[in-house]
Amino acid sequence: MTFTVKPVAPDRLPDLLRQMPKAELHIHIEGSLEPELIFALAERNGVRIPYANVEALRSAYAFTNLQSFLDIYYAGASVLLREQDFYDMAHAYFVKAAQDNVVHAELFFDPQTHTARGVSMETVVNGLHRACVDAQKELGVSASLIMCFLRHLSEEDAFASLEQAMPFREKIVGIGLDSGEVGNPPEKFASVFARCRELGFHLVAHAGEEGPPAYIWTALDVLGVERIDHGVQAIKDPALMQRLAKDRVALTVCPLSNLKLCVFPDLTSHNLRKLLDAGLAATVNSDDPAYFGGYMNDNFTRTFAATGMTAQHAYTLACNSFEASFISAQAKAGHIALLDACFEGFN
Ligand code: ADE
Ligand code: ZN
Repeated sequence: MTFTVKPVAPDRLPDLLRQMPKAELHIHIEGSLEPELIFALAERNGVRIPYANVEALRSAYAFTNLQSFLDIYYAGASVLLREQDFYDMAHAYFVKAAQDNVVHAELFFDPQTHTARGVSMETVVNGLHRACVDAQKELGVSASLIMCFLRHLSEEDAFASLEQAMPFREKIVGIGLDSGEVGNPPEKFASVFARCRELGFHLVAHAGEEGPPAYIWTALDVLGVERIDHGVQAIKDPALMQRLAKDRVALTVCPLSNLKLCVFPDLTSHNLRKLLDAGLAATVNSDDPAYFGGYMNDNFTRTFAATGMTAQHAYTLACNSFEASFISAQAKAGHIALLDACFEGFN
């Protein structure tokens, strides 16, 4: 990174954060389902949801930890039945992403949540993929799909899901690992990740969101992942911090998620600035924006306001997001040139 960032007055920083081009690398597409769309899809599909209205559902979004969120998140996803539902959900996300100057997005999806309810892998993947194609055409946002295994289920279940996905191999760029972390360490999925590596998928995993640094070590050394999703607990282990910095392992950090799920008591205490200042390749992401109170630019502006980060941090975060993405070297260079131009021309 050779670009010199000019100082920016604190009152101008939010505008710069909003305007700069950026990539989103940690968004669960089912976590972008806004209550309004949940109710619209429930009606369209004749699915009953146990809340009287949008306001009642939204007021249930008071979480104490990851599991308290996951219970509501999986219930919300139950309204998704047809290919068009998956398309509509992803399309709504892409419209918001484009408004936030997200120019590239890598979307997590949880097929086991849907196949367990009798929705086919084909329905899920084709609906999401069609929305990705249209996002490029209509909004200029490039996008790809990362299929996640639910870690509270068995490795055998993950293998079955992988098998179902094979006819759609070309529509999936990578494999991830999500859901309840504590008690479900990465090494539980060693064999299925080894198979995914042989198949040529990019590999990522949630680790160190609520779970210990040991889970980050095994995600790296047993699963062989290229990025760590969250990873904020790495701060507890100096040797791990050195390893992550030395190998430039990207962390897809999600500040408003961490706040809502009580990983940090307030945003001022969030360790994103410390991770960056220690030389780690951290990025900013929204995780489940419909549930956590903000999309990309909300994550940026609120976290910068709370931690006093600077324009230099902003540049580093946006640059890291492109460097850590699964796009070609040429596409990365193109995005970074536009990022440089944005900072150059900002006043
Ligand atoms: N699935 C959706 N959001 C998640 C999160 N923050 N952690 C683990 N699994 C998830
Ligand atoms: Zn996540």
